Order: sequence, then C-alpha cells, then structure tokens
Amino acid sequence: MYQLLDGKALSKTIKEEIAREVSAITAEGGRPPHLAAVLIGEDPASQAYVRSKVRSCEQVGFQSSLIRRPADISQEELMQIVRELNENPDIDGFIVQLPLPAHLDEDEVLLAIAPEKDVDGFHPMNVGLMALGMPRYLPATPYGILQMLERYEIPTEGKDCLIIGRSNIVGTPLSLLLSRKGYPGNCTVTLAHSRTQNLPELARRADILVAAIGRPHMITADMVKEGAVVIDVGINRVEDPTAKRGYRLVGDVDFEAVAPKCSYITPVPGGVGLMTVVSLLLNTLKAFKLRCQPEMQA
Ligand code: GUN
Repeated sequence: MYQLLDGKALSKTIKEEIAREVSAITAEGGRPPHLAAVLIGEDPASQAYVRSKVRSCEQVGFQSSLIRRPADISQEELMQIVRELNENPDIDGFIVQLPLPAHLDEDEVLLAIAPEKDVDGFHPMNVGLMALGMPRYLPATPYGILQMLERYEIPTEGKDCLIIGRSNIVGTPLSLLLSRKGYPGNCTVTLAHSRTQNLPELARRADILVAAIGRPHMITADMVKEGAVVIDVGINRVEDPTAKRGYRLVGDVDFEAVAPKCSYITPVPGGVGLMTVVSLLLNTLKAFKLRCQPEMQA
C-alpha cells in the first residue's frame, strides 16, 4: 500500500511553525515579515497562485502587498517597480510572478531584483550560491520537494533519481540539490527533457521519479518501478464540464494507475503546490531575519 505525501497536512504543520515564530517576533515588539508580489496581466493560473501566496501570508501573520499592473505595462515601468521594491525598507522580500507577457524581458527583470530580497531564488547570484553548496534562498518548488522528502524521512542516498523537465525553476535546480552531498541528496540524478530517448526505460529504473513537464497524465503505470517514490510537480487544467469552474486540476502523473505501484506519491492538488507556497514563506522569514536580526545568521 502506498503512502500519500500529503502536502496539505505538511504545509499546515510548517505554517503553524512559522506562525509561532512570527508571534514571538511581534510579542517582542518587532514588525512582522513583509512579502510583496508583483502580478502582471490576467493569466488565470498566475492569479490563482498569487492569491494563494497572499492568503498564506495572512495565515502566518506576515504582512503582504500585491502590486497588480495590466498586461501592457512597459519594461521600464516594471523595472521601476522592481527598483522601488529593492529600496523599500519595509519590504523583506518580493517576487515577480512568472510567466510575464511576451513583450517583457524576464531575464532583465530577474537580474534587477536585489539578491537579498529575491525570495524566489531566481537571481543568478542565488542560483550560483545554491549550485556551489552555499544556499541562501532555494527556489520554492525544489525547496518544497526537499522538505517533503525530509519530513517523511524518505531515504535518498545512492538512489537513482529521474527528473523529467529541465526548467530553470524546477528541474534544473532540483537536479543540483538532489545530487549534492548531504540529506536529502546523494542521489544519482538523471535530468530528462524533450530530446531524451528511451524515457519509459529510464523512468522504470528510477527509485525516485519527479515529473515536472506540464503534460496531464504523461506518466503512466508502465513507466514506474514497483516501490518507487513519485513526486508530481504538474498542475494542469483539464476541461471538465461536471466541475463547478468547468475545469479540474490534474498532475503529470496518472495517479489512479500509478499510485498502487508506489511506496510514496504526491497527489495533485494537495501535494507539491502547497509546499511551494510554504517554501516562499520560509524564504521570506529568512529574508526578514537577515535584514532585521543579522546577528542570528538566519
Ligand atoms: N511561476 C510558476 N512558478 C513560479 C514561482 O515559483 N515563482 C514565480 N515568481 N513565478 C512562478
């Protein structure tokens, strides 16, 4: 029988831990940590993610600010927002929700974010620190996956790990983190992508399989080894006329068929997505400590 990696329960536990820390800070007369989120345009998924981030801030007692601008904002206007957030002493960390509308230069925006406020961990400085084993802010989704492995005490040393998808925000950083020394880590990592050959064969060898492709139900039961740990990063909207909103969320893994073969598996929804948001809160708490309590070395 498989065990569910329950992002709902785990994120609740970690949020309670964060809330206790925030209470202790404010009880001593300090201000709470403050996260700002920049949302450009009307992309429904991005709106939902940002709403969830803001709501989570409220749950743990953080202050949050949402900066919304229309999709036709100019690059210069957006750069000005980033500069103001960099300089605003009341804000500990901020994120610019991706993807940005096509006319905007994402790289230029991410490069302009002050690395010490980059709680998404997307700035090259933070990516470099992570790659060299000197982590400061880990990107939220990989960080959430590490916490799941750790809190469920899933052995990783020497395991064959296949990560499918080489994005800058999930697959590539996770491949670095799981191959580094320590726990969770010490895996033998393979990073698969759209040009990979024999994917099913590689997948069947994996002790730990991470699907971060963005294709509904791509991972089928025949691709999964008996006893594998399966982490599903996909959050895909598929049409469903019987659902209230006309769609439902499904992962990259065909959960019903795959779960019986697994030792552990994450559900969608209720898995990695919730851990991503918690990781952002942890990074924001860290940013706050680095700014306000530097002696604590957060
Ligand atoms: N878009 C998808 N995931 C993320 C994330 O973790 N951070 C930001 N800023 N945008 C995203």
